[in-house]
Amino acid sequence: MKRREIFAGNWKMYKTRETAKSLVKSLLQGAALTENREVVVFPPSPYAAEIASLCGGSVISVGMQNMYFQKEGAFTGEVAPAMVRDCGCKYILIGHSERRHVFGETDAEVNKKVKAAFEHSLVPMICVGELLEEREKAKTETVLEAQVKEAFNGIDAGRAGTAVVAYEPVWAIGTGKVATPEIAEEAHRYIRSVLEVLYGKPAADDIPILYGGSVKADNIAGLYAMENIDGVLVGGASLEADSFLKIINTR
Ligand code: PGA
Repeated sequence: MKRREIFAGNWKMYKTRETAKSLVKSLLQGAALTENREVVVFPPSPYAAEIASLCGGSVISVGMQNMYFQKEGAFTGEVAPAMVRDCGCKYILIGHSERRHVFGETDAEVNKKVKAAFEHSLVPMICVGELLEEREKAKTETVLEAQVKEAFNGIDAGRAGTAVVAYEPVWAIGTGKVATPEIAEEAHRYIRSVLEVLYGKPAADDIPILYGGSVKADNIAGLYAMENIDGVLVGGASLEADSFLKIINTR
């Protein structure tokens, strides 16, 4: 049996209050129950509380796409970790490539957010991934190693074992260029080897590593068949119930 599986949808800055609600209602109706699989949605922050209350007691968990690492203070426009919890969220997405590359989030900030997540009983879903030019210069492993090590800096094995990692090659996000199952599996295996050096095999084996980047209903099967791919983080194809349901009901 695979380790714990997570099929997640990142809605980014899309949807209205009404279309977000109707999407999640369709997902609640159509998502098949599987003991080992959790479905997670990341709605835009203003809708998180309402979506979380619709999902209460269901197979679908809710997360927020971003937060600040400070507890509270004069940080106009930011969301505190306790507020994320207060909205009924279980997960927090940290270090998504759009946060890193559009908003300049650094590895050090990612690490502070990971620490803040654990301090507030949130499950961090930590995104890592290389740029196209880094892959072309054969720097993929160096980049992944640095991102993983920095994200988990100062986190003990007990906590690390409850985190989730998402491998999202930046060149595959929103581009329609999905990584082949072999390329993704190679990166996942490498990420797991880095986690193993940090935490030992049992903890590293517990951490789900999700693939993200142009996942669609018609390419999920090959990815899901890979030993170290424990689920997916889906952007575009998670915005419509039909396509996301096909993905989350993959067996
Ligand atoms: P995509 O986005 O599925 O639209 O490529 C993935 C992501 O950004 O998490």
